[in-house]
Amino acid sequence: MDAQDYFRGGVAVVTGAGSGLGRAMVQRFAGAGMGGVALDIDGARAEETAQAVRDAGGRAISLQVDVADAAAMEAAAAAAEREFGACTVLCANVGVQQFGALDKLTAQDWRWVLDVNVLGVVHTVNAFLPLMRKSAGHRHIAVTASSASLTPGVRMGAYTTSKYAVLGYTETLRMELADEGIGVTSILPAGMITRHLESSMAARPEELGKSEVRREDIDVMMASRKMETAGHVASAEHATRHLLEDLAANERFTITHGEYRAQLVATHEAILRAHDRGQEG
Ligand SMILES: NC(=O)c1ccc[n+]([C@@H]2O[C@H](COP(=O)([O-])OP(=O)(O)OC[C@H]3O[C@@H](n4cnc5c(N)ncnc54)[C@H](O)[C@@H]3O)[C@@H](O)[C@H]2O)c1
Repeated sequence: MDAQDYFRGGVAVVTGAGSGLGRAMVQRFAGAGMGGVALDIDGARAEETAQAVRDAGGRAISLQVDVADAAAMEAAAAAAEREFGACTVLCANVGVQQFGALDKLTAQDWRWVLDVNVLGVVHTVNAFLPLMRKSAGHRHIAVTASSASLTPGVRMGAYTTSKYAVLGYTETLRMELADEGIGVTSILPAGMITRHLESSMAARPEELGKSEVRREDIDVMMASRKMETAGHVASAEHATRHLLEDLAANERFTITHGEYRAQLVATHEAILRAHDRGQEG
């Protein structure tokens, strides 16, 4: 079955839908004839996303939510159920960035990044899973991790730690939901031209103090990750070009773009060598 037909008539809920990858996801799902629920801490931008879907003749609503707030996510699930009566695709897509060397990151930096990037995913799935379980049709959860979940880089240790956690969470979720017929995919984008730094700074709760962004950290991080390499950075639209096909096929991982095969091989060879040393007497 064509991937568009596979999801047609369903309802896609996307967090971080006011911008970048989340907005592009909502548009892809709307293009396949799905209803959309656009969730974002920036309510005005989430509404822009939903309005664009309605302008094109689709059905979409928006809600302002903080994914780190479990009660707000429960309320969002209740609103989605009232409006559409179902959730067939859930994209737990929000992630925030805080650059900085490990010994310079503050306790507030860590708390914020882990609250949003890790617990935000947990709250999103916990809030919407009951509705997904009641929903008919092909059901799928996609969680946005990062190429940082596979290839760590310097000066982004809090983010990388959170995205490794996201990968572990999603791998477990995939196993736990397999018998229920709910597919689960980890989305692993490399660099995307989005508002990520700007929206991260805007979303940080005031009581945690301002998010410090130092040019030097970004330069050192980019050099370590070869971000100048052609193809390593792409638009969010480009990053979603295989999304429907990958979810319909229940792929375990989606690497949207970026060329880092050599690092993957080096890491996995090191793990296998360690494994084999562990077999020695
Ligand atoms: N941009 C990149 O280079 C890149 C690379 C790999 C992975 N990612 C991941 O892709 C995902 C999407 O990022 P993007 O690049 O599209 O960024 P983006 O800034 O364009 O979109 C992220 C959206 O999340 C919202 N948001 C932030 N904190 C929130 C919160 N607490 N609750 C609800 N909404 C919140 C922002 O308002 C924003 O609209 C993130 O998980 C990010 O970590 C991004």
